[in-house]
Amino acid sequence: MDTLKELESIDLMDSEETSSQFYKDVVNGLKAPQKHLSSKYFYNEHGDILFQKIMNCKDYYLTRAEMDIFQNSSAQLADGIRANASAFDLIELGAGDATKTFHLLKYLKEQNTDFRYLPIDISGYILDILENNLFASLPNLSVCPIQGDYFEALQKACELSSNRKVILFLGANIGNMSPKESLNFCRKLSQNLTKGDRIIIGFDLKKNPATILKAYNDNEGFTSQFNLNLLVRINQELKGNFNIANFEHYQTYDPETGACKSYLVSLCKQEVTIGSETISFTQSESIFMEVSQKYALTEIEKMAFESGFKPILNCFDTHNYFVDAIWEVA
Ligand code: AVI
Repeated sequence: MDTLKELESIDLMDSEETSSQFYKDVVNGLKAPQKHLSSKYFYNEHGDILFQKIMNCKDYYLTRAEMDIFQNSSAQLADGIRANASAFDLIELGAGDATKTFHLLKYLKEQNTDFRYLPIDISGYILDILENNLFASLPNLSVCPIQGDYFEALQKACELSSNRKVILFLGANIGNMSPKESLNFCRKLSQNLTKGDRIIIGFDLKKNPATILKAYNDNEGFTSQFNLNLLVRINQELKGNFNIANFEHYQTYDPETGACKSYLVSLCKQEVTIGSETISFTQSESIFMEVSQKYALTEIEKMAFESGFKPILNCFDTHNYFVDAIWEVA
């Protein structure tokens, strides 16, 4: 064994590892007075599998509710985005496998609507699969996938054509930002668009608090595993030594603010090392993991006006659990 080479390679790994954004975010978050981790790191390979299980489980109503809208109200959505007969670019932020969007694409194509579909995603792999699937199922649809960060990709899309833009931001992804962050996000969107462009945003609505809490405290325990998986990921990718059995998932929902928050609670006093850092936990200390913000319709309208849009139309599922709100750049 060449010890020197091995040591060099370990050093190299260490410097790569410590300089990674993931490492910095994790250490900074766990050294803060209220410990926190970013839910954007939930989605590694196993996290994706767990999220699929959440979306298919009985208690998590959100995916079914929005699917209901896209399956049963495509005509209404289409009327809301067509505005006039002019050609438009339909741009989806975080398209993934576009299972919901497919119904709208199919309807628009059947109506001979003049549009192009531009799915944006951080994963080139998922975009390749999506493009192939769409080619097989809707061969006449013009698809132009763009890989990358939302706003960079959106700028690219705007440079590609001067067509009117319609943005899709589905799945209640807006809920994973605080209300203040969401407002800034929508402001940035309107600033990157032109008067007359439209967006469809999926919001999970305030409802019976027990229904909401159950969606994030599912009977099968998938949400708990989803949260704990981030500790597993830190162990695997950042040389952490979390003992997963020493943490428990805890969910809260505040019907006044609409904030549905998840935490991991330390079940004992303990020390955890991550690379060269040591993090101390007192018994019952919590790590804030994720917000899944719920909104009232009045709050959604207020956000539209305050971020440079005017509300056009709201499409609801049969239970009125979820809304896809259509706004126009004012
Ligand atoms: C992706 N996002 C909208 C989900 C949500 O409902 O906040 C993520 C999630 N977290 C736990 N369950 C689902």
